[in-house]
Amino acid sequence: MTNDYSQPTVALSNGPAMPLLGFGTWQIPDSEATAATAAALEAGYRHIDTATGYQNEAGIGQALAAADLPRESIFVTTKMPPDHVGRERQTLEESLQKLGLDRVDLWLVHWPPNKQATPEAWEQFVAAQAEGLATSIGVSNYSLDQIDELISATGVAPAVNQIKWGPTLYDATIADGLAERGVVLEGYSPFRASNLDDPTLVAIAEKHGATTAQVIVGWHVKHKFVVIPKSTQPERIVANAAGARVDLADDEVAQIDALAE
Ligand SMILES: NC(=O)c1ccc[n+]([C@@H]2O[C@H](COP(=O)([O-])OP(=O)(O)OC[C@H]3O[C@@H](n4cnc5c(N)ncnc54)[C@H](OP(=O)(O)O)[C@@H]3O)[C@@H](O)[C@H]2O)c1
Repeated sequence: MTNDYSQPTVALSNGPAMPLLGFGTWQIPDSEATAATAAALEAGYRHIDTATGYQNEAGIGQALAAADLPRESIFVTTKMPPDHVGRERQTLEESLQKLGLDRVDLWLVHWPPNKQATPEAWEQFVAAQAEGLATSIGVSNYSLDQIDELISATGVAPAVNQIKWGPTLYDATIADGLAERGVVLEGYSPFRASNLDDPTLVAIAEKHGATTAQVIVGWHVKHKFVVIPKSTQPERIVANAAGARVDLADDEVAQIDALAE
């Protein structure tokens, strides 16, 4: 292994550490997922983000099996599609079977079902966690109000909210609101949500001898936002991970925060 991106981590409210850098796998077909995940593991990523809806859990599972890394050194997230309410447990069992795992590290409700918080689904997530099938549980694309609804209905806060995020989407109200509730902010689409030619990012990248994509990854890590860049190109897989080590100064982070639209 050339690198180990299991560090740095953020502590989840229920205890486990989650690597701030993960490998995104949306739109990687199952037939390519084994090679892409193997490249990511080889590059040092120790956190893989998938979903039932990505239809690539089997390919990812093959790469995990072939890598033969200690289970506790890998952090695997999958997500339940919103229209699977009522068959939560079956959905998770299918994910585990495809991934070749007996537990995932994080299981997320992919979207609020019918745009509603849906505490009855969340209760099933709490039950799966109690059984040890998911070490941590969380949500994706939830508003603060929807998270509050889950907390007041069940007494259990999601460990994570995975949301579209990046410099132009930076919103201190959301970031602080999640932090106040003990919910880790996991950003998705770090590049697709960004202008990689933005002059502020270009200037900061030049100072660090980095690319703007790497600066965006470094900005997430500095804020302790989880970041899960996706690529199928081996050179980009390696380069994006190295962004986690771009050490931005506080004034550079503030300049990037100010790109919020
Ligand atoms: N929870 C949700 O609803 C949700 C929604 C969307 C995404 N996600 C998760 O978040 C992950 C990341 O988001 P994303 O896949 O939407 O987008 P992303 O990671 O922001 O961007 C991926 C795109 O950028 C390209 N790219 C990768 N590295 C690059 C670089 N260094 N320079 C220029 N272009 C680069 C990729 O092409 P190549 O592959 O050709 O390199 C791909 O087209 C997903 O894979 C998924 O795991 C979750």
